[in-house]
Amino acid sequence: MVMDRTRTLLSNQASAARASRDPLSYLRLTDPQRAWLSVTARLALWRGANQIGKSHGQAADILLAARDTHPYRQVRRRKGPVKLLVVSESWAQMDPLCEKLWELLPKDEIDPKVKYVPGQGIQGFKERVIPFTSGPGKGSVIYLATYQQGAGRIAGSSVHGAYLDEPPPESVYGEIMPRLSKHHGWLRVSMTPTPESPPLGYLKEKVDAYQQGERAGNLFELHTPLSLEALTLRGGLVEAPWKTREELDEIIGSYLEVERGMRVNGDWDPVAVGRWLTNWTDELLDTRLMPSGRVHVGVGIDHGAKAGRQYAALLVCDAAGERVGVLDEVLSDGRTSPQEDAQNVLLMLERNGFRWQDVDYWLGDRAHGGDYWGNEKSNRDLMHAFSKILKLPKYQLQGAGLRLHVPYKRRGSVTRGLRLMNGLARHKQLVVHPRCAGFVEAAKNWDGRMDSPLKDRLDGVRYVIEKFYDRNVLRPAKSPTGHIF
Ligand SMILES: Nc1ncnc2c1ncn2[C@@H]1O[C@H](COP(=O)(O)OP(=O)(O)OP(=O)(O)O)[C@@H](O)[C@H]1O
Ligand SMILES: [Mg+2]
Repeated sequence: MVMDRTRTLLSNQASAARASRDPLSYLRLTDPQRAWLSVTARLALWRGANQIGKSHGQAADILLAARDTHPYRQVRRRKGPVKLLVVSESWAQMDPLCEKLWELLPKDEIDPKVKYVPGQGIQGFKERVIPFTSGPGKGSVIYLATYQQGAGRIAGSSVHGAYLDEPPPESVYGEIMPRLSKHHGWLRVSMTPTPESPPLGYLKEKVDAYQQGERAGNLFELHTPLSLEALTLRGGLVEAPWKTREELDEIIGSYLEVERGMRVNGDWDPVAVGRWLTNWTDELLDTRLMPSGRVHVGVGIDHGAKAGRQYAALLVCDAAGERVGVLDEVLSDGRTSPQEDAQNVLLMLERNGFRWQDVDYWLGDRAHGGDYWGNEKSNRDLMHAFSKILKLPKYQLQGAGLRLHVPYKRRGSVTRGLRLMNGLARHKQLVVHPRCAGFVEAAKNWDGRMDSPLKDRLDGVRYVIEKFYDRNVLRPAKSPTGHIF
């Protein structure tokens, strides 16, 4: 009797150990994920809401295919190892997928050099790869690449399957298709279209053609809007969605009107709205609510896309992190020199009782279209001017905190930042001094046009608000507006 118990215990331990080595063995999926894994079409698109488990589903499919243990579909024509290609916009963008791959990977079946570094993805080899060295997938290799690495990395030898986890630019799609032809490989694209996605009309055409019966070369589509059912893991003792109705409503409410249909239903196109900051009201101009006393201070500068055009804003955030204020601004029309721009920023600080040393965060960026070097140059010119006016070498300014940081940029950052601002406006956690007429005009009128000078002003303010938020200085109490989708 005692012996039997011990044996059961031991075998339980053994199976627990096996499971921890092979997390795939206790994989649980939602209905849409199972539907996605069951798709038999060679080329398929999963278009759906944000956060419904698309990346998790893709990660499961990749690993099941690599190990040839796919329960839902036959993935290979011939026996033998497979090569799979996983492509995303950038390493940062691919990180959620890498995290899920790592979570589900049977670690004792892959090359021990492979590791996952949070925020930086899968590492271990010069090129990013996951080689399977034992188990059912022995010999299979998963290759990781980004759109930003360019065609060189994506084009290359043939693969049996390719996976994209972001809306792909047409050129990327075009690079991948030839790599599939030799093995008649499969393609799996998962995405939520957003206002900042590259043009996706070409994908929609392929979906439409497939639905009209022209299968060859076109895309089968799985479409999944946000719902509680879509967030429910099946097959366990308790089947409950991982979000409540209230949480869903809060998330849906936090989206900008322009993007809501895309993020909730996976719609192809944004809706045309007038202004993006729909929660703007003149009640935000109530200076009695302006944070004062011990505050965090930030200066956001947008150098504009046109030569000379520049906008700078001074922001303060209260010590509790509940409210942020746009205190002052300077707007130059394009005829000022960096010297004058720098002088104007210093004057703005002075008239509000701040020294340049009081500023906690300096952000400087060119409006869209400015590449990294463009940012560098504009920021360098401005730093040079500060150094001249303040009669201090640059390293001393930097030592005292005057260092212009380029805001963190990736696809989706504009909508993310504006969503954050709109959420703050909704709960009156944003205050604007009425003298900031340039910002007010932009908040009331910017309608999404990327080349509009109004955008420079929203950007200057947005950089600082995002920085406050990312540094946990600003902690909006009520709305989960900061999701990075
Ligand atoms: N089958 C599952 N088992 C356990 N957790 C899951 C499962 N599917 C999804 N999740 C969890 O739900 C969250 C959302 O999943 P995921 O990131 O895959 O969604 P997504 O649709 O790719 O989101 P986004 O639109 O942000 O890219 C993640 O925290 C993920 O780990
Ligand atoms: Mg995802």
